[in-house]
Amino acid sequence: MMTNAPEIVLGVTGSIGAYRTADVVRHLREAGYAVTCIMTQRATKFLTPLTLQALSERKVYTDLFELGTDPIAHTTLADRARLIVIAPATANIIAKMANGIADDLLSCTVLATRAKLLVAPAMNVHMWQHPTVQRNVTTLKRLGHRFVGPDVGKLACGYEAIGHLAEVEDILRAVKQLVPASGVPGAAKPAPARHASKPKASARRKARR
Ligand SMILES: Cc1cc2nc3c(=O)[nH]c(=O)nc-3n(C[C@H](O)[C@H](O)[C@H](O)COP(=O)(O)O)c2cc1C
Repeated sequence: MMTNAPEIVLGVTGSIGAYRTADVVRHLREAGYAVTCIMTQRATKFLTPLTLQALSERKVYTDLFELGTDPIAHTTLADRARLIVIAPATANIIAKMANGIADDLLSCTVLATRAKLLVAPAMNVHMWQHPTVQRNVTTLKRLGHRFVGPDVGKLACGYEAIGHLAEVEDILRAVKQLVPASGVPGAAKPAPARHASKPKASARRKARR
């Protein structure tokens, strides 16, 4: 369903932090954005596409070669996006983006878009501090891509160190700076189903008679 809400394409990659993407989707929707999720194959090991489909109320894309109504999904999504957010972003997708590698739906979409990009990395502290990762981050920043986080926090590997996915509120703030929200909370939300409304007290009394 297309709306007037600003279109965000949200890329999800194979980090333990992927479970927090569900909250990112929820907050973006509440702020008035329309959200389409692309998950890498590895991301689906950490979070089900069904969860993101339910929260975004849109199809979740996972496969570059899927046969469907959209003949070339990656270019459609690339053109649709006002902003592409990657949260969480693995060392792997950062490396692919920095080197123009296009071997799955998310990396093809990133390469085919003219939209701005916001990257929220999450990984082990030693991965984050590795010179190749830092070189790739510098390359992406020079290309004009924005970063939010990573934060210092308790990592899945046990360290209390940098590498934690940025807080959802910080990701939302960064999104709003790049693409203002529609200003109407829940603008991207369809009207509630009729049966969800509570019957009036008079109608309930009538029904009891
Ligand atoms: C339990 C587990 C947690 C992982 N967490 C991360 C992570 O937080 N960040 C990261 O860069 N890679 C992490 N990885 C490694 C990635 O899943 C791996 O590099 C994968 O190839 C990423 O693929 P993608 O970028 O296409 O999603 C993790 C792997 C496992 C098994």
